[in-house]
Amino acid sequence: MEECTPTLNTGLRGVTVASTKISDVKGAEGKLIYRGFLVKDLAENATYEEVAHLLLYEHLPGEDELTAFKAMLAEARAIPANVLQIMKNCPADSHPMDILQGVTSLLASYDPDLAERERGASLRKAIRLIAKFPTIMAAWDRIRNGREPVAPRTDISHAANFLYMLNGEPPDDELAHFFDVGLVLHAEHSFNASTFSARQVASTRAHIYSAVTAALGSLSGELHGGANVRVMEMLQQIGSVDKIEAYVQQELKAGRLIFGLGHAVYQTDDPRAHILAPMSKKMGERIGEPQWYEISRVLEKTGKAVFKEKKGIDIYVNVDFYSASLYYAMGIPIDLFTPLFALSRVAGWTAHVIEEQYADAAPKQALYRPASDYVGDYCGPDVCVFVPMDDR
Ligand SMILES: CC(C)(COP(=O)(O)OP(=O)(O)OC[C@H]1O[C@@H](n2cnc3c(N)ncnc32)[C@H](O)[C@@H]1OP(=O)(O)O)[C@@H](O)C(=O)NCCC(=O)NCCS
Repeated sequence: MEECTPTLNTGLRGVTVASTKISDVKGAEGKLIYRGFLVKDLAENATYEEVAHLLLYEHLPGEDELTAFKAMLAEARAIPANVLQIMKNCPADSHPMDILQGVTSLLASYDPDLAERERGASLRKAIRLIAKFPTIMAAWDRIRNGREPVAPRTDISHAANFLYMLNGEPPDDELAHFFDVGLVLHAEHSFNASTFSARQVASTRAHIYSAVTAALGSLSGELHGGANVRVMEMLQQIGSVDKIEAYVQQELKAGRLIFGLGHAVYQTDDPRAHILAPMSKKMGERIGEPQWYEISRVLEKTGKAVFKEKKGIDIYVNVDFYSASLYYAMGIPIDLFTPLFALSRVAGWTAHVIEEQYADAAPKQALYRPASDYVGDYCGPDVCVFVPMDDR
């Protein structure tokens, strides 16, 4: 029999591990598609609630469906008083992503459907998670600053309610709309690192809270959702347009990353960046700080040119490049940028967990269990001989 030679695919690039009906990323064309719809069309025409419904229920809601879905989300916004109390006992300098991850884990204990495995129960759990994420984050930001959390409202949109709970007053229509568009753009992105983490955990038949907790850990890293924080820090470090060229030269020479550039799948600009950029410009002008957008715009141009000159390859902007300056101009604390990504992406994660659990896709999903290439010792041709403690 012929021996099977394992192939090493570092980072699983290009390896298809499952089928999905949720989204598609056409890297060469720069297209992101949620259940058949271009994200650009959804950003221009749909609210986050409609998009979350699309991801979870596989179709855009009709009017009555949307009303019912919004009511379910609004009703599930509050978090248990015990959980708020635990948050109040956490060190004030805890990272918001760690709080979000810890509280998500805790919330499993409060979910009446936790042990229910039928699809309806999974959808209810998904809705609770989507509804509660903004409440957790807004409450944490207030708690760590010594203020009382603001209870969620049930009569305003998902986006407006988050900003209301964060700031204690409802946003105006433009701010709520821009924030909502940001949520739509971040809601789903196929098998990125955090979604794959969620699906991998779900494939063991662990519950949805465990899967989402794993996804949060994955998202927190600076090569993934943490990049938007690094972009803002970079913009602040650069400080003005005249320092961009020197900064890019110096960072690339030192072998460091320019955050917000590059992507594992897109071979052109990330389509979301083109929607975020004009909002960043508008918000910057609105608060009288146009420099963050301006530095980003020139950095994009310079970064691409210097990268091409130094590496001989093209590089493109990703979603984090303009979301950083947009969120900053919205007055969002920088360390909440990655949690904001999670507030939105939880819709995609939960849709994927449900698909993983109830896949009607072919081939049928299975427990993920990749192989690895052992390059450690055998102490010789066979295996190491165990040495008792006294003889080591
Ligand atoms: C996202 C990312 C991890 C994709 O990595 P990848 O799939 O390995 O990218 P590529 O294979 O196209 O990289 C080709 C080369 O460009 C380099 N490169 C890629 N993105 C870079 C960046 N933003 N700054 C500097 N160099 C970069 C890689 O290190 C690699 O160099 P090498 O050939 O000397 O090893 C990478 O682009 C990155 O780290 N970007 C910055 C972080 C970021 O913005 N993340 C958010 C992603 S949505």
